[in-house]
Amino acid sequence: MLIEVAKVRDVPPGGLKAVEAGGKEIVLANGDGKIYAIARRCGHMNAPLEKGTLAGNILTCPMHGARFDVTTGKVKSEPPEGGPMPSGLPESFVHHMERLGSLMAEIKTYDLPTYRVQVEGNTIKVEI
Ligand code: FES
Repeated sequence: MLIEVAKVRDVPPGGLKAVEAGGKEIVLANGDGKIYAIARRCGHMNAPLEKGTLAGNILTCPMHGARFDVTTGKVKSEPPEGGPMPSGLPESFVHHMERLGSLMAEIKTYDLPTYRVQVEGNTIKVEI
């Protein structure tokens, strides 16, 4: 079923827009002059991907930096590992951050569903 979700002007080149259709949260992405639809929630820890950045067809999550190909929904890279902690931080904070880092290392990033997009005139429709 095709559902109207936005107007073409709502998603300019390089733009991201969150929409809902058929009970699904979706992000429209215009990376290369063509509009794609991908699940809105990051496959790592559910961050809203419309707040990320789009370079070409690669969408980078705003929270930890996982990268997704908006044309396929496939993970292009897991979140990068943190670098060394600056010196002088309280020991309890360093311990807490190290524990978070070890937990993060065990969280897998999953591929995201994508949806077929059809542009009719000025209207964007998504197939659900
Ligand atoms: S929530 Fe997206 S990279 Fe962690």
